[in-house]
Amino acid sequence: MHSTNSSNIRIEVVKNKEEGGKVAYELIKEAVEEGAEVFGLATGSTPETLYKELRESDLDFSDKIAVNLDEYIGVEGDHPQSYEHFMQEKLFDAKPFKETHIPDGLAPEEIEVARYNEVLEKNPIDVQILGIGTNAHIGFNEPGTPFDTETHKIKLTEDTIQANKRYFESEDEVPEYAYSMGIASIMAAKKIILMAYGKNKADAVEKTVNGPVTEDVPASILQKHPDVVIIVDEEAAGNL
Ligand code: GLP
Repeated sequence: MHSTNSSNIRIEVVKNKEEGGKVAYELIKEAVEEGAEVFGLATGSTPETLYKELRESDLDFSDKIAVNLDEYIGVEGDHPQSYEHFMQEKLFDAKPFKETHIPDGLAPEEIEVARYNEVLEKNPIDVQILGIGTNAHIGFNEPGTPFDTETHKIKLTEDTIQANKRYFESEDEVPEYAYSMGIASIMAAKKIILMAYGKNKADAVEKTVNGPVTEDVPASILQKHPDVVIIVDEEAAGNL
């Protein structure tokens, strides 16, 4: 592992996602020791190695709060591809939290957006975990999403539908819409840990770290956050 600095972003280059999970775990452990109470959590394949470390650890989250980034619209919480189901299986069943929050993909937009913004207001995030889309989306904030957005309904881009279809039986089953915490909600977290593995993330990582801060590259806003760690394997760091 080696670290480099670019603006305020600390970059940790690791050999593979297993090592990345361990590095992220150490950062979470430190945050817990420093009193962090609210954890912003992400789904996708990227945080899985971190969640494995957490499951196997003796860290206690029974007095902590989890607030998830996003959820598909129109998918029941117990559907195998819902993000709620993912979180139960990958983390919460083994590591109970005092409270877990995730957008309700079956609730009407107006009600759900207001409800989730209240959840975020009541539970300011200490540490936010992020993956990144190949188009540099964070949460489900697709390119073009205004940086000042809070929780909102999003139409998934074709790129994202293509990237996520591997989890569904057919492309037709991939939801077209999702609720997501907005970029402003993510930026309000005290500390942000973004992980990216594999060469299909190299371009997004390079633009995030070195490119102009633009709404066309949602993750580029992280250059403006005071405390960001990006954990990448050598492939995802390939264009840095
Ligand atoms: C999904 C999620 C994101 C995730 C991204 C990358 O669309 N909404 O939170 O970071 O895709 O997924 P993966 O980690 O599987 O590459």
